[in-house]
Amino acid sequence: MRKPIVIANWKMNKSLDEALDFAGELKAKLPHGTVAHVDIIICPAFLHIAPVALNKILPSGVALGAQDAHWEEKGAFTGCVSPVMLKDVRTRYAIIGHSERRRYFGEASPMLKGKLTMSMRAGLVPVFCVGEGLGDRQAGKTFQALDEQMAVLGDISREFLSDPSEFILAYEPVWAIGTGHNATAEQAQEVHVHLRELLTSYWGSDQAQATRIVYGGSIAPDNFASIMACGDVDGGLVGGASLDCEKFLKLIEIARGGENGK
Ligand code: 13P
Repeated sequence: MRKPIVIANWKMNKSLDEALDFAGELKAKLPHGTVAHVDIIICPAFLHIAPVALNKILPSGVALGAQDAHWEEKGAFTGCVSPVMLKDVRTRYAIIGHSERRRYFGEASPMLKGKLTMSMRAGLVPVFCVGEGLGDRQAGKTFQALDEQMAVLGDISREFLSDPSEFILAYEPVWAIGTGHNATAEQAQEVHVHLRELLTSYWGSDQAQATRIVYGGSIAPDNFASIMACGDVDGGLVGGASLDCEKFLKLIEIARGGENGK
């Protein structure tokens, strides 16, 4: 049984006051006991992680994540933040390989392998993102594009994988991100099954069955239930809709409804 998970990726949005207000609103409105049924993660800008964590205004059990993490523990890397620093300010998760990092910062497999490895070594749970572009999908090359991005996981040492809850995979088709055109439930399920087969080939069936695979790309309260109903979709990685606390609460409630049987 895989516990549903909803992850807010705020990207480069919100002022510090807005981030703190959101955390306070979530604390006031999140139904008691929800975190026993759904894992909830908030990924603010780096700069806002520490104040949100240290002010302790998030509801108990709601965790913080970073939107990226470096491949080294420390060193001469101007402008970067290491997994150890993130851990130090009570970050629990790190998004690695988001398509915006791949596209705007040229991140590719060798670098992402380093980021995954160092994050896990530092005790962060990676949320590793893969997703095909529109051209790949239109050319019938969706699986080919995903296979190339996934291959790095075959190299990840098994020493880190003793607990399946310590790794999350996110399927985010690039054409669905921020466009309002989410993948259909059928498209998401087809890809998630394929990704789980790849995980099985890398890590074995037990690990693959226990690893949560979340969908991301234009998730909204009116489309999430059908996606969550898919047998191999274990949660959502949410951009735009996660900026609004009311919408985010609705998504959490939908994920909670999908907790059975996975
Ligand atoms: P949107 O939900 O805004 O499409 O963003 C998805 C995403 O990139 C989350 O990481």
